[in-house]
Amino acid sequence: MNDRIIRALRGEPVDRPPVWFMRQAGRYLPEYREVRSKHAFLEVCETPELALEVTLQPLRRFELDAAIVFSDILPVLTAIGRSWDLVKGKGPVIHQPFRDPSELSTLVRPDVAEALPHVPATIRLFREAKPDTPILGFAGSPFTLLCYLVEGGSSKDWTRTKRLLWEEPETADAVLGLLADVVGDYLQSQVDAGAAAVQMFDTWAGALSPAMWERWAGKYATRALARVSGAPRLYFTRDTSPFLSRLHQTGADAFGLDWRVDVREARKALGAETPVQGNLDPIALYAPAADIKAQVHAICDAAGPVGHVFNLGHGVTPTTPIDGVHAMIEAVHERKNG
Ligand code: CP3
Repeated sequence: MNDRIIRALRGEPVDRPPVWFMRQAGRYLPEYREVRSKHAFLEVCETPELALEVTLQPLRRFELDAAIVFSDILPVLTAIGRSWDLVKGKGPVIHQPFRDPSELSTLVRPDVAEALPHVPATIRLFREAKPDTPILGFAGSPFTLLCYLVEGGSSKDWTRTKRLLWEEPETADAVLGLLADVVGDYLQSQVDAGAAAVQMFDTWAGALSPAMWERWAGKYATRALARVSGAPRLYFTRDTSPFLSRLHQTGADAFGLDWRVDVREARKALGAETPVQGNLDPIALYAPAADIKAQVHAICDAAGPVGHVFNLGHGVTPTTPIDGVHAMIEAVHERKNG
């Protein structure tokens, strides 16, 4: 088994930084679009053979140190009683958003093995198909899931969600507690199926003030991660550089950084011993190859040789040139830790 990513996440020496990238299976790949021309998004997520195929696609093109299981963060909402779909041009749409405390009784505490079987099944298929490559599991954070559950889809400023926190704190606590327990059990089910590490995506954590992050995002990320053992646990956020040091409160083993923070400063805030992941701007992949490579080397120099997993600072975008991805990966492969 290629153990670069596990070693880096444990702060052990590696010959070069491991590399994978968020949304590495997705629309920038013509072979992904080909699968999607025949199958709906949710059908791909819920059919382990199709999810396996899409998970493998980037590994056929690029020499990556990890796969990430193909799915989405939103199946957890289905499991607690709220269905959704991906609508072209709109993104995810939750059919019945959670808007009122009286709806609490309509949410369910599912048996995770029964309600969310597809991702562990895909991980098991992957382990058989590619035993030498580590596969990462993932879930959305309780707070980021609450954002989609309450707004019913994406939002610019998450007003309804923040109003719920202020106006109905007891209801928000109840929903976040439910989400935290389900997310924790879901991540553990992925570790049990063979995930080498798991990442919790707290995409909207940076929409909160530091105090509100502690009260609503950090508290429930901590509760979810406390239910997970047996593999390193990554916590990914964006726009949180003003309060990076607080992220330690979650007890996560490593932290995903977006590109707005200088890795050197992030390491100062988090402590030199703390493994970090990131953080090339996904839009940098549209730059000339020489510029991409220079940026990759600058990030790796800033991160230092130990405890760094190379990644983008957020997901790769659908129109990204594949040559840019090649240049990024080549530059990471050029790294040599002495
Ligand atoms: O990284 C990977 O390759 C693994 C797969 C993965 C997807 N979504 C596939 C996907 C992962 C880890 C996610 C996480 C996810 N989903 C997050 C957190 C990470 C982040 O990006 O901040 C969020 C917020 C979602 C919710 C979601 N699902 C959004 C905002 C979208 C995009 C909507 C759009 O039209 O742009 C999706 C759909 C989605 N999830 C796609 C993929 C490949 C595109 C689906 C398609 O049309 O085929």
